[in-house]
Amino acid sequence: MKIVTTVSELVDIINDWQKNNQTIGLVATMGYLHEGHQSLIKKSAEENDRTVVSIFVNPTQFAPNEDLTSYPRDLENDCRLAENSGASLIFAPSAEEMYPNGFNSYVEVVGITDLLEGKSRPTHFRGVTTVVSKLFHLTCPTRAYFGQKDAQQVAVISQMVCDLNFPVQIVVCPIVREADGLAKSSRNTYLSKKERQAALVLSQTLSLAEELIKTGEWRVAAVIQKMTDFINNEPLAQIDYIEIVDAKTLNMAESFTQPVLILLAVKINQTRLIDNLLLV
Ligand code: PAF
Repeated sequence: MKIVTTVSELVDIINDWQKNNQTIGLVATMGYLHEGHQSLIKKSAEENDRTVVSIFVNPTQFAPNEDLTSYPRDLENDCRLAENSGASLIFAPSAEEMYPNGFNSYVEVVGITDLLEGKSRPTHFRGVTTVVSKLFHLTCPTRAYFGQKDAQQVAVISQMVCDLNFPVQIVVCPIVREADGLAKSSRNTYLSKKERQAALVLSQTLSLAEELIKTGEWRVAAVIQKMTDFINNEPLAQIDYIEIVDAKTLNMAESFTQPVLILLAVKINQTRLIDNLLLV
């Protein structure tokens, strides 16, 4: 497995692969890899001749008050995990390499970026779509792999790929959870032991909602209210949002007749976590 840090090294390798008609899978990450990322890399390695893993803590998707500087980083361990999962190449550029002096172009999806995460993080998705566009151009992937954990990110990137005719297939992989239900996330490392226990409230609330719906609760507002009450019983938790939306449009669901996504963002003390459940 090769590790490159510059655009020109990356492009040379991609050109060689393309000359040899090799299919390319891209797993875009911000590093600090865990089993969630590894599941994407493994899937890509199964489905493509070559797999590129990008490791880049993308400054444009963080607001000034967010955790850009404290975001966990461990390139050496990331390279080991990526290689064990079947990666062919790591692209780990610096911020200057991705955004050199004079950089002044952004890719923006409108509409669905105003909802959910976009409400609390208004500049976030513009940063995501800009960096992902750059990575698509640089790596020319046949397929790109994203986790269902970031459900809105998947919807936004799929919209961009469709609108801007990127010749790439988006493959969405299931959420990977700890044995006790906590969704894997690089940000889980911020949690103290007590907070880690409190963070279980996210997956437990989603299970509660699933149970309520399965046992006949048909009122969306009633499900949201019971989820709210459940989270409010956890003293370390503060709700950012709980929403039940149409899985396709991300508009508020009025009933459970169509596939819905139940999404939540909750702060456990200072750590903001997200989780979701797709009900089809
Ligand atoms: O999901 C992430 O880790 C990031 O948003 C991504 C897609 C790597 C873009 O920086």
